[in-house]
Amino acid sequence: MGTAGAIIDRMLETEEENIAYPAPGARPRRPSREHVAPHVVTLFGATGDLSRRKLLPGLARLSASKLAPELRIVGTSLDVYDDDSFREFARAALREFGSGKVADDQIELFVEKLRFVPQSEGPEALARAVANAEAELADDVRRLHYLSVPPQAALAVLETLRAADLVDRARVIMEKPFGHDLESAVSLNATVHETFKESQIFRIDHFLGKEPALNILAFRFANGLFEPIWNRNFIDHVQIDVPETLGLEDRVEFYESTGAFRDMVVTHLLQVLAFIAIEPPTALEPQAISEEKNKVFRSLLPILPRHVVRGQFDGYLREHGVSPHSDTETFIALRCQIDNWRWAGVPFYLRTGKRMAEGQRIVSIAFREAPKSMFPTNSGIGTKGPDHLTFDLADAARLSLSFYGKRPGPGMRMDKLSMQFATSETEEVTDVLEAYERLILDSFRGDHTLFTTAEGIESLWERSIPLLEDPPPVKPYAPGSWGPNAIHQLIAPNAWRLPFERAWRESR
Ligand code: BG6
Repeated sequence: MGTAGAIIDRMLETEEENIAYPAPGARPRRPSREHVAPHVVTLFGATGDLSRRKLLPGLARLSASKLAPELRIVGTSLDVYDDDSFREFARAALREFGSGKVADDQIELFVEKLRFVPQSEGPEALARAVANAEAELADDVRRLHYLSVPPQAALAVLETLRAADLVDRARVIMEKPFGHDLESAVSLNATVHETFKESQIFRIDHFLGKEPALNILAFRFANGLFEPIWNRNFIDHVQIDVPETLGLEDRVEFYESTGAFRDMVVTHLLQVLAFIAIEPPTALEPQAISEEKNKVFRSLLPILPRHVVRGQFDGYLREHGVSPHSDTETFIALRCQIDNWRWAGVPFYLRTGKRMAEGQRIVSIAFREAPKSMFPTNSGIGTKGPDHLTFDLADAARLSLSFYGKRPGPGMRMDKLSMQFATSETEEVTDVLEAYERLILDSFRGDHTLFTTAEGIESLWERSIPLLEDPPPVKPYAPGSWGPNAIHQLIAPNAWRLPFERAWRESR
């Protein structure tokens, strides 16, 4: 495995080729590396879980590569650290959660770029630390503020940024959830807009930064083969299924007030649905893609309680910090529909939950069956479900097209066969960028393509009103299962793809 620098050099070459030859009349998608100004990153929530697991390791990898500009990082949080102890915190985070792609000497160079200001020292101390960090960089330095803080703390951070006069030359990355219903989302967006313009705001949904999510766009729009059948005439239904084996770990407080719908569906799963459902955008650039995504959200029919199964794993009520009468769902499965010409009548089934049987992230497209079969009934035709195209959204993407084919030998017996592709079998597997790495990099470049817009988020909350106003009661499910029994009625006469009847082919 090469170092981050070597791997990413290769990626840059490819990327710069793309930039040099945009389609006729099109704007280049991203400014080239030379145009990315040095940045001071202010990391709010710098000693929190997300920072430890993803942000510090991601920034270290970007910084060790030539992808990121020259950086200084000012960490701040409610915890009491100083520069040295924060550097030690970062080293430990990289040891535990780093990808192994950043060499030891690069880690040391990275931690030298870190500073820490306890939040208790106020906006002046933060402003001084940022000014000192900026003085170490070139004149055209820009600011990136990463708000890795709970939603109720976000407004106070915006206040701090204003008081510290850190709004100019700045972009701000905001973490979900963006409100908890339509009204709160509208009000949050309005408050954020008092400080930052929409062009400065990057609302992060890390599922959109995952390599395989982008591969959905490539698969659909870089090929002439699939798009003609990507519609209601050929597709029977779609499943977006993201079961997790994880429990709540130390996030009980957050989860109790959030639940699976707000944590996963109104964010990640519906964003993935948009990539499956959008019309071809006029260009691979932010405005064109956001417009198409927003059209999908506007065509989404309101989510009705009778199309939803909410579940709660046995034992949730005994978790420390959970109310004994909690109605929070740790599981949700639902059916939704997109009421436009391409998708009318095609159900989209979404499912996700904690403490389930397996951790998976799949999108499965079920094609309509052949209108008539000439094969004898005992040939096995149709017994293993419809033909499927399956995307595995794991970091190293996999893709499978399954179909009926003849079993070798006498007679006419059918088996379900598949053609599979796995990124792990390619030489480029080490080039895969982790979702946060890609999205932080895009925000250095001011590229909004993979971020969500205020309008998009508000329309999703609007479609969720019937469910939020009248949620069906939670049904119990056993930890380690696939959810409450009612999930089968929800999808009947179809069946959930997971658990898979046939395992993915192992890489050779
Ligand atoms: C987060 C949710 O946004 O996504 C978590 O808050 C969830 O509850 C996580 O576990 C899943 O992300 P990933 O990338 O691990 O699939």
